[in-house]
Amino acid sequence: MNDGDGTLAAQNPGRKFGPLGTALVIIPTYNEAENIKAIVGRVRKAVPEAHVLVADDNSPDGTGKLADELAVDDDQVQVLHRKGKEGLGAAYLAGFRWGMEHGYGVLIEMDADGSHQPEELPRLLTALKGADLVLGSRWVPGGRVVNWPKSREFISRGGSLYSRIALDLPLRDITGGYRAFRTETLQGLGLDEVASQGYCFQVDLARRAVKAGYHVVEVPITFVEREHGDSKMSRDILVEALWRVTTWGVGERVGKIVGRGRPSQQ
Ligand code: GDD
Ligand code: MN
Repeated sequence: MNDGDGTLAAQNPGRKFGPLGTALVIIPTYNEAENIKAIVGRVRKAVPEAHVLVADDNSPDGTGKLADELAVDDDQVQVLHRKGKEGLGAAYLAGFRWGMEHGYGVLIEMDADGSHQPEELPRLLTALKGADLVLGSRWVPGGRVVNWPKSREFISRGGSLYSRIALDLPLRDITGGYRAFRTETLQGLGLDEVASQGYCFQVDLARRAVKAGYHVVEVPITFVEREHGDSKMSRDILVEALWRVTTWGVGERVGKIVGRGRPSQQ
């Protein structure tokens, strides 16, 4: 687990965390017809008290329709139909808003393809009792990846390392997408200003949480590469991530120099 300097807990060691409200597991989907039924079933079994929201971008393969069928049989499953593919960030922002409007106390991010194992969710929720945000982490001791091509592991590790250094973040897995937020944490992140569309959305939220002084904890997970369907990772997603992280990093450094004349302690 990571308990970096500068977190709210480090500033206030005696800080108490409130009870966790009902959890909503948000699952963004684009062409996950082969996976949607299994993942929803696993979540419902692993954490029966949690609710599920599938945020589908009008998948051509009919994922949204399959999700509707699951929702008919289970009032703890809901579907958010979006008009078209707008990226992971936009789907999560819509899902977060829906969850806030419906009064959930915990909002969880989880991929549809089985890479994030629902059976590990209870551990994330236990950690959230003493944190503002929990990151499922592949790159802390005890975390690992199964069946990921070396090339993909290199990109992911490199992306986290670059973000860690460029943005001065005390975190190991900054791009991961298995996370549990207290709703109040998300409300403090300025979501209206988030422009990130692709997977750099994850870096953006982690960065905002640390800079806002929230207590961010990393819990080791085993990430299992999908068996069905295809990754939506693309060159454009990588390029967006690289330029945004670089822009944020440069902006912060310039801000520190111009603002104070010396590096901030925060
Ligand atoms: N609604 C919607 N819209 N869902 C999307 C979109 C989109 O534009 N793009 C991707 N998704 C969904 C997929 O259907 C899947 O459920 C989840 O987002 C993750 O997409 P994958 O394509 O499976 O991602 P990955 O396995 O390549 O990437 C993983 O690693 C990244 C880097 O660490 C994920 O865990 C990412 O969250 C993570 O950022
Ligand atoms: Mn995946």
